Amino acid sequence: PRVPAPRNEPILPYAPGAPERRELQATLKRMAGEQIDIPLLIGGKQVRSGKTDTVRMPHRHSHVLATLHEADASHVEQAIQAALAVKEDWARMSFTSRAAIFLRAAELLATRYRPLINASTMLGQSKTAHQAEIDAACEAIDFLRYNVHFAEQILAIQPESSPQTWNMLDYRPLDGFVFAVAPFNFTSIAMNLCTAPAIMGNVVLFKPSSTAALSAWYFMELLREAGLPDGVINMLNGDGPTVGNPTLASPHLGGIHFTGSTPTFNSMWKTVGENIGRYKQYPRLVGETGGKDFIVAHASAADDVDALAVAIVRGGFEYQGQKCSAASRVYVPESLWPKLKSRLQGLIGDIRMGDVTDFRNFMGAVIDEKSFKKVSSYIDLAKQDGEASIVAGGEADRKEGWFVKPTLVQLTNPRHRILREEIFAPLVGVYVYPDAKYVETLREVDQSATYALTGAIFGRDRKAIDTAMSELRHAAGNIYINDKPTGAVVGQQPFGGSRASGTNDKAGSLLNLIRWTSPRTVKENF
Ligand code: ALA
Repeated sequence: PRVPAPRNEPILPYAPGAPERRELQATLKRMAGEQIDIPLLIGGKQVRSGKTDTVRMPHRHSHVLATLHEADASHVEQAIQAALAVKEDWARMSFTSRAAIFLRAAELLATRYRPLINASTMLGQSKTAHQAEIDAACEAIDFLRYNVHFAEQILAIQPESSPQTWNMLDYRPLDGFVFAVAPFNFTSIAMNLCTAPAIMGNVVLFKPSSTAALSAWYFMELLREAGLPDGVINMLNGDGPTVGNPTLASPHLGGIHFTGSTPTFNSMWKTVGENIGRYKQYPRLVGETGGKDFIVAHASAADDVDALAVAIVRGGFEYQGQKCSAASRVYVPESLWPKLKSRLQGLIGDIRMGDVTDFRNFMGAVIDEKSFKKVSSYIDLAKQDGEASIVAGGEADRKEGWFVKPTLVQLTNPRHRILREEIFAPLVGVYVYPDAKYVETLREVDQSATYALTGAIFGRDRKAIDTAMSELRHAAGNIYINDKPTGAVVGQQPFGGSRASGTNDKAGSLLNLIRWTSPRTVKENF
């Protein structure tokens, strides 16, 4: 049977007076007034470890949203046993039954769970209603529906046979469990990290980011209601190494599905290397890590300076610059800079920032104190450094929330730290190059950062675009021509990068799903 043809979930507008806006506002109000207790989820059982942390609103950090129970090594062991106990039943369940569970989850999310998941993403992760809608609702729904479709396509990939011999690929799940480790910045990514392997028949240990624990918890509720059997996905909140080390030392580790920082993925890879003799199989390592994503403008973008300014503002500052795909370095020819600079100063000056429950705000707060301190140190550097000047923003205020003004810094040195290091906050570096040095600038873009996640090229001259495409061949896994470098859509722009940005196993495509199977080739003679 063919699964229903997927299509991308339409983005709801949340206009004043719209029913979805009223419903979301009511949910936000209720959620802000309660303080839930988030347990571990092991074999379908809620486990309260008693060792707790708090989940707070980044834009109002005195407000505790939830209490979070943290796992220790004994919970990891229980979760591994719970996953292994249901592994065979889950793997043997027919594909159509597994698919139906995830398609039902998508439908529940598109309807009844939509306000709940959006509100938890807004309050817990400081996303505006629009940023929550495109992530926690639309992209998450798309991942569920499209991944089922991609899985079905994979099952249909079969070798040649003959009247005498039947050859088959039997798409088994990996031997063992998959460890899904999620970041705070996308609810949909967290959900994809655990459900993509599960759709292919795997069992999962899921470690959400503590700062995104609220939306992760409601996702688990959604999956349970959709009919996901107990033990298929087990949720372990807690400290990274406390959960990670025993998990990575398990002989049953079948794979890692990770999104987060480059240093964390590097350290997990190293631990896997140290444990390599213990495993029953070579674990699949799939990771999407950091970025230092660029926008390069060519002089032929002269008629598109307004669009370029909007791409820099949206690509650099939406969700406070905390998308792995966010534009954080911009290269502009001298001929365009005066006009672009004034457009940017105008747009940035008009940005409203504050509590995300006020729907007029375009930006909320950065995720936590650590992030606030990190970006503040780069702003201080920009203020003191003779090679840097602040074009817009440059202020931060921690009194009520972790608020950092959208900040644009011009650098005279193309190798400046602000143009090379991942800051993961609303700080964009600009380098202005002589028009005649376009090719040299492209080489600089390619060589000055170790990352290769996303990038954008602006220009009308086809030859200039072609030059950029070849000079930047390995500088980004997702490249955009005349668009911002964020906002990949499932099924349309498979997402992922290489170099220090990850293993480039394209989320939102068949290429990711194929990593979660270990096919067995069967030959039968008649
Ligand atoms: N997939 C997200 C984007 O493209 C990270 O912005």
